[in-house]
Amino acid sequence: MSNDLNTPICPEDGDRVPAHVAIIMDGNGRWAQKRGQIRLAGHRAGVRSVRRAIEFAGRHGIRQLTLFAFSSENWKRPETEVSGLMELFSWALSNETKHLADNNIRFRVVGDTSRFPENVQTAISEAERVTSGNTGLRLVIAANYGGRWDIARAVQLLLRRVQAGEISVADVDEDLVTASLAVAEDVDLLIRTGGERRISNFLLWQLAYSEIYISDVLWPDFDSSVFQAALDYYRGRERRFGRTSEQVQERML
Ligand code: FPP
Repeated sequence: MSNDLNTPICPEDGDRVPAHVAIIMDGNGRWAQKRGQIRLAGHRAGVRSVRRAIEFAGRHGIRQLTLFAFSSENWKRPETEVSGLMELFSWALSNETKHLADNNIRFRVVGDTSRFPENVQTAISEAERVTSGNTGLRLVIAANYGGRWDIARAVQLLLRRVQAGEISVADVDEDLVTASLAVAEDVDLLIRTGGERRISNFLLWQLAYSEIYISDVLWPDFDSSVFQAALDYYRGRERRFGRTSEQVQERML
């Protein structure tokens, strides 16, 4: 990664660059199986794509990149795959933290990481601590995350605040729910690799108005050309947020 990673290379397109891109990184297993390798080989190759995606996001002025690394449902996978993934997270974190820090990237993990091995939890806390003052790209890794878990947790937080008398039931509106979520930023563009057309319990609330780009490319083959194609697709979309096309055109004049 170069040190100017957070310098947009296309500032003239600034207003059409999605501020928040979220990615469902799918297809690691199929990539490995196609090569006669174990699934974990696909996850290892997937780490290189993660690095490429972060570099691309930083260079194109994207403010936040949220990556779905491990869903609440992934515990159901074979034990060897789950433990291999945990080792990979630990390895990637200890190798990449310095790069993140040097490139002004702010790193955060969302999800219930309490079930993760202690060394992974420690590596996460350390990476979050070291990068907490950074002002460039916000990199959010969703790990043992589920959209329904996030909403249920937000409801619990709000109920506790009501119980404590801090807020009243009538205060609970969309803004307050949003602010109580683990990811409080709406997603502008969702990219899913691997060809499936599903949300898979990712950022359910935050995807309300997102543009969605599905690529058949398997995650280990994800590169700048796929990311660029997704941005081009986004640029060509008219985001109406419930308005008519005519109203949107008028507001742009
Ligand atoms: C989905 O592919 C991918 C995962 C469940 C794991 C994603 C993990 C990484 C890319 C590696 C590490 C990430 C970080 C942030 C260091 P799949 O196994 O479901 O693929 P398939 O649909 O082909 O079976």
